[in-house]
Amino acid sequence: MSTDTDTSIAVNPLAGALRPALRPARTVVRWGVRHGLPAVLLDRGARGGDPVGRLLRNPAVRDDPHPLYEELRARGSLSPSSIGLVTASHAVASEILRSDRFGVGWDRSQAPRLIRWALRFGDELDATGVAEPPSMLVVDPPDHTRFRRLVGRAFTPRATAAFEPVVQRTADTLLDALERDPGTRSGEIDLIDAYAAQLPVLVIADLLGVPTERRADFLRWGAAAAATLDPGLPFRRYVAAERALRAMHAFLREHFARLRRDPGDDLVSRLVGLPDDEALTERELHATVMLLLGAGFETTMNLLGNGVALLDAHREQWEALRVAPTGWDGAVEEILRFDSPVQLTGRTVKDGGTLAGRPVRAGTRVTVLLGAANRDPEVFREPGRFDVGRANARDHLAFSAGIHYCVGAGLARLEGVVGLRTLSERFPHLRVTGRPVRRDLRTLRGFEHLPVTLR
Ligand code: HEM
Repeated sequence: MSTDTDTSIAVNPLAGALRPALRPARTVVRWGVRHGLPAVLLDRGARGGDPVGRLLRNPAVRDDPHPLYEELRARGSLSPSSIGLVTASHAVASEILRSDRFGVGWDRSQAPRLIRWALRFGDELDATGVAEPPSMLVVDPPDHTRFRRLVGRAFTPRATAAFEPVVQRTADTLLDALERDPGTRSGEIDLIDAYAAQLPVLVIADLLGVPTERRADFLRWGAAAAATLDPGLPFRRYVAAERALRAMHAFLREHFARLRRDPGDDLVSRLVGLPDDEALTERELHATVMLLLGAGFETTMNLLGNGVALLDAHREQWEALRVAPTGWDGAVEEILRFDSPVQLTGRTVKDGGTLAGRPVRAGTRVTVLLGAANRDPEVFREPGRFDVGRANARDHLAFSAGIHYCVGAGLARLEGVVGLRTLSERFPHLRVTGRPVRRDLRTLRGFEHLPVTLR
C-alpha cells in the first residue's frame, strides 16, 4: 500500500532555481491542505454538532473537554464524525492501537488529484513538522520498525534508570536557583516558565547532546511544533510556526555537521554515525531528532504542570505524598490518567472489517480520544475522582499502546516522579495563587502559565 511516507513526494518537479521564488506560494498551499481545508470541514462539522469538530474548534471545549467526552460515551463506543469515526472507549481505543488492521500512514493515491498535487508542491524538508512523514509517529512498518529499533536503544529500562542522576541534578539546580532568587520569597512566579518547562528541556538536551544554552530557542520552536499538531491553524499562526520549524531544521543541520566532525557519547552522535547499511537519510534524521526533541519536553512539561495544579486542588493528597513519598509513582500515573498531556491520536483502517460491531471500510480515519478512554468507567471506578492511591491508574492509555507506544514513557515517568517529589520536598508550602492559563492547544493539554507562590 502506498502511504503518506511515499518517497515520491521528495521528487518535486519544481527543483532548483524556482524553489526559493516559489516559497511563499508553497507556504500558502501547505497551509491550505494541512490547515485551511481541515478548518473549513471541522467548522462546518462543529456547527452541525460534530464531536471532533467541536473538540478541535470550540474554545469552551478546549478548557474542559470532559463533558463532550461523556456525551460521546453516552452515544456508544464508536461514533461517526465529519472526518471518519471517533471513540471514547478504553476497550475500542486499545483494540485500535494494538491491532495491525490499523495504521498511521494513509494512502495518498486515493486522495483527490488536487490534494495530491498540493501535497507534492508543498513538500519541503525545512518546513516539515513533527507529525509529518518520515517522523516515526506517522509511518507504518517496515520504516517504523527501523526507526524505532535505532532510537529504542537509548530508552531501554536500564538506559533510563542510568539517567536518574541527571534528572535529579537538573531538578536540584533549578530549585536551588529559585530558592536563592529574592523575587520568589514573597512574590508569585510562573511555575511553567521557571520549572515545568525547564526540567524536561534540559534533560532531553543532555540526552540528545544539544547545547543547553539554546534552551529558550528549543522551547519557542517546540511550542510552534506543538501547535502544528492541531489541524485548522489560522494562517498567521501557521506562518509563525513554519518560521520556527525552519529555524529548528537549520539548527539541526548545523548540529549534525558538528557531531559528524566531533561525535560525543549521545543518541544523536550515534544516529549520525550509523554504518552505511543502517544509515538514515538526511530527511529521516531530521524527522527523528526533531520528534525526539519536541516530544521529549512538550509533553513532560504538561505532566509536571497538570500535576501541580491537580495536587494543589487536592491538597490533602499533596500532604499525604510528603509524608509517604513512595506514593509518587502512583501519583504520576493518576495525573497522566486524569489530565492526559496527549488527549488524542488517530489511525486509519488498513483492512476493512468490523470494529465495535460496526462495519468499517479501509481508508476510514478513526480519532482515538486517549483523554476520554482514561476516564472510561468500564475500567476506572469513579473515573472523575482524582485519587493518587488508585490501584489501576497505570492501565491508562496516556502513552498510547501497540507499536507506537511512547518510546520515552520511562523517561517521562522518571521526570514526573523526580520533578514533582523534589518540588514538594523543597517547597512544601507551594500554592497556586493566580489564575492558571491553559495552552491554546487541543492535541496536547497543559498550562501556558501556572502562577504560584513557593513559600
Ligand atoms: C508525559 C510525557 C509524555 C507523554 C504523555 C507522551 C505521549 C505519547 C503518546 C500518546 C505517543 C503515541 C501517539 C500515538 O500512538 O499516535 C507518544 C509517542 C512518542 N513519544 Fe511520547 N510522551 C511523553 C514523553 C516523551 C518523551 C520524554 C520522549 C522522548 C524523549 C517521547 C518520545 C516519543 C516518541 C519518539 C514517540 C513516537 C513513538 C512511535 O511512533 O513509535 N515522549 N508519546
